[in-house]
Amino acid sequence: MLAGNWKMNLDFISGNKLVEDIVKNLETSQINKNIEIVFSPSYIHLQKVTENIQNYSNLNSSAQDISMHEKGSFTGEISCEMIKSIGAKYTLLGHSERRSNFLESSKILKKKIELALSYNLNVIYCCGETMAQRDSGLFYQVIESQIEDVVFHSASDDISKIVIAYEPVWAIGTGKNANPQQAEDMHQFIRTLISKKFGNNIAENLTILYGGSCNVDNAKDLFSQPNIDGGLIGGASLDVDSFCELYTILCETNI
Ligand code: PGA
Repeated sequence: MLAGNWKMNLDFISGNKLVEDIVKNLETSQINKNIEIVFSPSYIHLQKVTENIQNYSNLNSSAQDISMHEKGSFTGEISCEMIKSIGAKYTLLGHSERRSNFLESSKILKKKIELALSYNLNVIYCCGETMAQRDSGLFYQVIESQIEDVVFHSASDDISKIVIAYEPVWAIGTGKNANPQQAEDMHQFIRTLISKKFGNNIAENLTILYGGSCNVDNAKDLFSQPNIDGGLIGGASLDVDSFCELYTILCETNI
C-alpha cells in the first residue's frame, strides 16, 4: 500500500488536480492491482476525491481522523457514519500530530478504533516513538503499548481491516528517515506482537507501512525490507511526480 497523508495542505482546486494528475499518470504506467493507493486528503476534499477514483479498484480514500462520538452535539466534528456515507474506505487514527497536538490518548484511540470497525471503516493505525524515547532505549515498549492498548482489544476478524503504520515521530517532516534496518526491526517486532496475540496467519497478512520522511531517494531501501509493505507518505505525497515515482518503486520492490 502507498498512502498519501496530505495533512492540512492544498486548497480544493489544487487537491483535486493532484489526484487527477496522479490518476492520469498511473493510467499510462503499469498499474499493479496488488498495490493499493490511498489518498488521505482533508475532509473538504474527501467526497470529490472519493468520486474521482471510484472506477479504480486499487485506489481508495481515507479520512485523516474521525470523531470519538457517534453523533450529536459535537460542533466541528465529523462522524464515522458521515465518512462511510461518502464511500471512503479508511480513516487514519493515532497519527503523532493528533496524539501530541490534540492530546489523543490510547483511551480515546481505543474508542475511535472500535467505532470505526463497528461502521466497517478500515483503519490505518499510526504508532511511533519520540526521539527521547528512542534515545532512552525504551522504544520497543512504547510501540508495544501503543498497539496493545488500542489494537489488541479488536476481534481477530477485524484485524484484516487494520493497517499499521510505523512512523517514528523524530522522522516525520524532519527529512531524517529511520534507516532501513531500524525500520525493518520495528516492523518485524510489530508483526511478532500481532502474531503472538492473533496468530501467524493474521500477522502474515497484516500490512505494515513505514512513514517519516520517506521519499524517492530512500524508498527503495525501505520498501525492499521483508516486513515493510509500503509507505505512509506526507510531504512527498503532495507532488505528482514524487508520489508516482514512489508507487513505481513500491511496484518494483514487491514483484
Ligand atoms: P512525512 O510525513 O512523509 O512528511 O515525514 C509522514 C506522515 O506524517 O504521515
